[in-house]
Amino acid sequence: MVKRIGILTGGGDCPGLNAVIRAIVKSSIYTYGIEVVGISDGFKGAVEKMFQPLDLNSISGILPRGGTILGTSNRDNPFSYAVKVGDKTVYEDRSAQMLENFRTAGIELLVAIGGDGSLNIAKEIFDLGFPVIGVPKTIDNDLFATDATFGYQTAVETACDALDKLHTTAESHHRIMILEVMGRYAGWIALAAGIAGGADVVLIPEIPYDLFKITKTLEKRVQQGKKYSVIIVAEGAKPFGGQMVVEKRIEGRTDPIKLGGIGNRVGEKLEQMTGMETRVTVLGHLQRGGSPNSYDRILATRYGVAAVEAVTNGENGVMVALQGSQICTVPLAEAVSQLKFVPLNHELLLAARSIGIGLGD
Ligand code: F6P
Repeated sequence: MVKRIGILTGGGDCPGLNAVIRAIVKSSIYTYGIEVVGISDGFKGAVEKMFQPLDLNSISGILPRGGTILGTSNRDNPFSYAVKVGDKTVYEDRSAQMLENFRTAGIELLVAIGGDGSLNIAKEIFDLGFPVIGVPKTIDNDLFATDATFGYQTAVETACDALDKLHTTAESHHRIMILEVMGRYAGWIALAAGIAGGADVVLIPEIPYDLFKITKTLEKRVQQGKKYSVIIVAEGAKPFGGQMVVEKRIEGRTDPIKLGGIGNRVGEKLEQMTGMETRVTVLGHLQRGGSPNSYDRILATRYGVAAVEAVTNGENGVMVALQGSQICTVPLAEAVSQLKFVPLNHELLLAARSIGIGLGD
């Protein structure tokens, strides 16, 4: 029976991380008498041995708090770890150092709370023979083998709230208002928030858009007497035959591509083509910050409890997941085998079409 586990949060933060940490610590201590060691700043803390014991006091009051009390990082892969040599950065394999740190701290199993980048690293650690359990986190909801990641619903709510606010100002000024949201290469946030917030056009990476088709949707609204329109665009959206807009490359990150800028690109073109005044809002990290909603608190708690249960059941190399309404475990290898994109026959997409939302195609 495992007596001491380490937990870390890796990749971009999201609402609900603290709720998972709390559930893991409480369930470990109350139900199984397992000790928990917190690892700071994601995999950096694993390599640099930044460890702290987590007891009931350390997690007191964190359920509604955004961010992560452990800190996180979307760099610092132990298998390709950035090291300064003079004025150069070289990348070294520091995984042996990390495992030695775990051994000397008495950590027998790692619970990695992360998105696809962190869970890919977790899978590599499992492949080295060290026990690992994964917990699916990301506002993007793009992790395969689970129906939902925690953090996503709160991000959708934030985006929906922004759309509600943009509606009122769009209507007053007879403008096109565009909201650019996150989601990386998947359109889950844009699609769900677009439906919840009554967007007139939803642009997602899975459906390359045609500007002409978008103007047709906007013109139809004008003909119906609607002098304004609200558009939500996923940061990964791209024109038919074109590319996603990359804001910059950031070397050393698990994914060096930083998307951003599609909202302005679409906005400029639509203003020229329709003659309607257009404004663009980039929602950015507001989607990642703040208190998790009750759905994400509950999902995060269920995931935390299930992760500890998996530890005590002797499971290894798995990720806790939601399938339908049930929490289960799936092999980590399956979870990181591909990203989960919006299927073109997804019921939400069909519903969007059915109620006349323009999808740019
Ligand atoms: O994966 C979460 C996410 O917020 C994406 O939606 C977004 O593309 C990316 O992280 C932004 O990363 P950063 O915090 O490094 O700007």
